[in-house]
Amino acid sequence: MTSPSASLVQSAKTAGARMADRGTPFVFNEWYAAAFSDEVSRVLLKRTLLGKRVVLFRTQDGRPVAMDDRCAHRSYPLSAGAIDGDTIVCGYHGFRYDDRGNCIQVPSAAKCPKGIGVRTYPVVERGPVVWMWMGRSDIADANSIVDLSWLTSDRWVRVKVYFHLKSSYVYLCENLMDTTHLSYMHASTIGTPDYASAPAQTEKSSGRFALIRTVSPTRLPPIWAKPAGLEGVSTAARIVRGEFMSPGVFEFTTRLYDGAVSECSRSEYRIKVAHMTTPETAGTTHYFILMARDFAHDDRDVTAFMTKGFSAAFQEDVTGLTLLDEQIGHFGHDAYEISVPSDELGVLMRRYLRQRSLDEHGIADSTADAATEARPISESS
Ligand code: FES
Ligand SMILES: [Fe+2]
Repeated sequence: MTSPSASLVQSAKTAGARMADRGTPFVFNEWYAAAFSDEVSRVLLKRTLLGKRVVLFRTQDGRPVAMDDRCAHRSYPLSAGAIDGDTIVCGYHGFRYDDRGNCIQVPSAAKCPKGIGVRTYPVVERGPVVWMWMGRSDIADANSIVDLSWLTSDRWVRVKVYFHLKSSYVYLCENLMDTTHLSYMHASTIGTPDYASAPAQTEKSSGRFALIRTVSPTRLPPIWAKPAGLEGVSTAARIVRGEFMSPGVFEFTTRLYDGAVSECSRSEYRIKVAHMTTPETAGTTHYFILMARDFAHDDRDVTAFMTKGFSAAFQEDVTGLTLLDEQIGHFGHDAYEISVPSDELGVLMRRYLRQRSLDEHGIADSTADAATEARPISESS
């Protein structure tokens, strides 16, 4: 029986201390998906985002509004009140708030006392997503919302899926960064045995981490092969680029084609997926997914087939990450993670998340003087 040596465990713990985990304070100065656009309506939507309870609704001219879900009077949830025009009326004593969160009427008082209100948050609607900024409002810049122009382009046919995930968003982000799990966690859906060991390139820049994996030649699983007309083809190519774009967004682009056909005459099929990883609480995540293809635009059977197949695959992640988060919670301080070279991007991404959190909250880095450098375990160690 092999048990990790005490020094290896200590090294793993030291490395782990430098990575974000389920206990790392959220990064607030960032845009997150708060809701799919069609969820925000003239009905009050109650939602917890980054540990805060908020309420969302649309004004009469269609503008999304988000504010704290807590009446300034006695903390009654505003989401249990009512929309009246562009205002919310609290369901307890009737305090009325306008769309900027100002209390403009107190029914029991002849004149509304000044200075009462609730916090509102910057929200921006882009195609099917309502983005929200919950950090310092003076630095909220809509230009920093990640560019996902395909979400609003007619060239792509889109479907959406949502999961309420019982896991920290950190583990979801690492799961998305680490596609070596496809051959195992998704063995019967989107994975193939050759996926985990296929050659991969990495790209690293400030706050962006990308992995490009080339699986070729390969035999595609039905979920990819059928819509692309590549069933039974043993010379297929599957090129996947997955990028961590922000703490709340991953983008995947998959290109499929028959590698035996020359570049100038082959058909290429592209599928894009935006994974939006919005923390709800320390141990739960709103997992919004938008998936799009640039072929078979009007084929509803392809839409139904892909939606069903990919939903089943993403459910595998949700089930697996629920197990993982529960397991890590169970072991608490005894938990440690031993990394291998393929974890490099996941480790860098989790260090980045932690550093963003430390910087934002003004927390001193207690691991800065750690004697052991926190690197993925090298091939030779
Ligand atoms: S708690 Fe809202 S009006 Fe009293
Ligand atoms: Fe997965």
